[in-house]
Amino acid sequence: MNEIKIFSPATVANVSCGFDVLGFCLDSIGDEMVIRKTDKKGIFITKIEGYDLPYEAEKNVAGVSALALMEDAKPDCGFEIEIYKKIKPGSGVGSSSASAAGSVYAINELLGRPYDKTQLTHFAMKGEALASGSEHADNIAPAIFGGFTLVKSCKPLKVLEIPTPSSLYATIIHPEIEIKTSEARAILPKSINLQNAITQWANVGSLVHAMHTDDYDLLSESLNDVIVEPYRSQLIPHFDLVKSESLKAGALGCGISGSGPSIFTLSKGKDIAEQVAEAMKAAYSSTGINFNIYVSKINTQGMQVI
Ligand code: HSE
Repeated sequence: MNEIKIFSPATVANVSCGFDVLGFCLDSIGDEMVIRKTDKKGIFITKIEGYDLPYEAEKNVAGVSALALMEDAKPDCGFEIEIYKKIKPGSGVGSSSASAAGSVYAINELLGRPYDKTQLTHFAMKGEALASGSEHADNIAPAIFGGFTLVKSCKPLKVLEIPTPSSLYATIIHPEIEIKTSEARAILPKSINLQNAITQWANVGSLVHAMHTDDYDLLSESLNDVIVEPYRSQLIPHFDLVKSESLKAGALGCGISGSGPSIFTLSKGKDIAEQVAEAMKAAYSSTGINFNIYVSKINTQGMQVI
């Protein structure tokens, strides 16, 4: 096989209480990429459609992660990368991670799968670091593994796969404003209150338990972020309104997707997820800010060869 086309999914990081550790994978939003073996060694980005991104491999997140893999694998060939970017950069649903993870996933397939998913996550983190200024894997891991993941540690990298209750759907609203991850990280406090830390780690533990036991009530009680959301929600116009309306419409929980501005909800069943989408739409229509809304099943497969 000399050429492969893949779907590289969007993802939701943090999942309210799990800042920098939890994430899940979406199935109706994502980029497409074509990767092709070349005789000439190196990484060559030959086409980018959708958004204006750098062609130099060293300045492009897909290129940086691919170069990290190449440095380790030292294959006797190079690769051309075409990126069909559908996830808007800075939208909060893992745009840079989709590029960073997509290139290494596809190259691994073309090389006959010498690396496992954890190793691919490690290479992709190098690309993510270029975009966000820090090496975290909470978007990359769900893109590569699918479903819900918990990054137990980055050094050494250890990713845990968490079971997905089968009726879980996500509704995402993307207000068309840009929030840079690096800026959304810079506004966070360097130290946190102990009582808030206790609340937060109890929520992370109970959320993971809820996923293992299909306990939607516990899942709902656990989707709370007392540490990051109070700061970042101020960057997202009408966040509180969207949250209260989506909860009224039946969502199990609502929070900031990654570093925003997208807002995610989780619901039990597609019908409720669609009602929540209507409620979000009604809440945001009066704001004068353009937005997109998506309803998505949780993608338990992750990356896909098309
Ligand atoms: N965990 C990251 C953050 C996700 O919230 O800053 C965005 O890359």
